[in-house]
Amino acid sequence: MTEPLFSEDDDEEFDRPRLAAHGPVRVRVPAKINLHLHVGAARPDGFHELTTVYHAIGLYDEITARRGDTLTLTMEGEGTGQLSLGEDNLVIRAARALAAETGHDAHARLHLKKQIPIAAGLAGGSADAAAALVACDQLWGTGLSRDDLAGIAATLGSDIPFLVLGGTALGTGRGELVSPILTGGHAWHWVLAVAEEGLSTPTVYKTFDELGAQSEAGTPDGLLAALRQKDPDVLAEHLANDLQAAALHLRPELRGVLDAGLDAGALAGLVSGSGPTVVFLAEDARHAALLAADLEATNCCRAVRTAVGPVPGARVL
Ligand code: C5P
Repeated sequence: MTEPLFSEDDDEEFDRPRLAAHGPVRVRVPAKINLHLHVGAARPDGFHELTTVYHAIGLYDEITARRGDTLTLTMEGEGTGQLSLGEDNLVIRAARALAAETGHDAHARLHLKKQIPIAAGLAGGSADAAAALVACDQLWGTGLSRDDLAGIAATLGSDIPFLVLGGTALGTGRGELVSPILTGGHAWHWVLAVAEEGLSTPTVYKTFDELGAQSEAGTPDGLLAALRQKDPDVLAEHLANDLQAAALHLRPELRGVLDAGLDAGALAGLVSGSGPTVVFLAEDARHAALLAADLEATNCCRAVRTAVGPVPGARVL
């Protein structure tokens, strides 16, 4: 973890006494979008150096952790039939990583309720891993700090530390180095157009390399200023995603989705992360609802969702 630029004041939960939980522990975790995603060159380890602004939005998965004699995972909801329940699942890997780090037995019965679409550029799988870390920490009473959990999260995936923290944050390195950005409590209103079929993140990065679509590096000062200004028209001018060209190359029909949202009056639209979800900025809650209804009527995508950001990361309910 790098030093925070600013501190967000939602640490209460991590200040409570460290006792193992006897009853079930429920943890809710949000999806993320990237308000800015600069992708640099591929590194020797295959990852790309990023400068990104993560933003957690109110579209949630939920994990319930109960005591058990082994480590098991069950799932329900959005797309779960396609996901493995075995050792390769990020939720299981997260529980095992926490157990290894703390010396605790990796014993828990985990149940995941999914609402975040999978392979959508919304970091749903990463969110579930973050939720598993927070849930098992509480179930086992291992009492790690949020930074300690984010440190374990970084060994599991680039986006996972952010989903432990939530809010709005600057991400560097391969995305795992996260510094909170104070956004002064302003709520931004988003509309998400969810595609029929997911996109593979490695494929999108590979296409990015092939297209040579790199933008100029640099800190996203304009975006950070726009967030402080709390003016959606200003923010609309500073949303950017270097992976968008690659996602559009792989899914040319996403151009039509972008156009549909902009025609319906969105202030801005961009592909979320590696896609294929397209995210639109709205003026306020009412505008978001109208925009969502208009988009739904165009039948341009599988589902339309509204969500507010920023929201906290993985939290015990
Ligand atoms: O870290 P995570 O497991 O989420 O990354 C998934 C894939 O996305 C990586 O295997 C890599 O292909 C690509 N990636 C990348 N550079 C990053 C983050 C992810 O190339 N900074």
